[in-house]
Amino acid sequence: MDPEERELLVAAAWLHDIGYAPSIGHLRFHPVDGARFLETQNAPERLCALVAHHSGARHEAEERGLTAELSAWAFEDSPVMDALCMADLTTGPQGQRFTFPERLAEILSRYGEGSVVHRSINRGLSEAHGHVDRTIARLALVQSR
Ligand SMILES: [Fe+2]
Repeated sequence: MDPEERELLVAAAWLHDIGYAPSIGHLRFHPVDGARFLETQNAPERLCALVAHHSGARHEAEERGLTAELSAWAFEDSPVMDALCMADLTTGPQGQRFTFPERLAEILSRYGEGSVVHRSINRGLSEAHGHVDRTIARLALVQSR
C-alpha cells in the first residue's frame, strides 16, 4: 500500500473493535458503535469508515437490519481495508496468530449455528477470502523484491 497509508492502517487495527466497549455501545453493533464514537473524537473520516466496515460488517448489518446506520460511511475497497481485515481474520481474541481457517473455526465455534454472527460470517465468506488472498499476494510481491 501507499506508505502514507500505513499510519491509518495501524490506527484502524488498534481501534476497529472499540465499539465493544460497553460505555459506547449504544446500538450493540460494534462496527457502527465504534465509528460513531470515533466521530465524536474527531477521528478522520476514513478511519471511521474503516472501523464501520471492518471484516464484513455490512453482512452482519444486513442480518441485524442496521444497513441504514452503517451506510453513514462508505465502504472502502482498498489495500488498507484488505490488510485490516486480514489482520483481524488471522488474529484470535487473545492476540493469538491464527491462519484464516483457524480464525473462522474459532469464530464459528464461539457463535452457535443459526446465530446472527454465524450467518453473517457465512454470507461474507468469499469477500473475507478476497481480503486475505489479496493481502497475501501483496505481501509476497513485496517480499520477492
Ligand atoms: Fe470486530
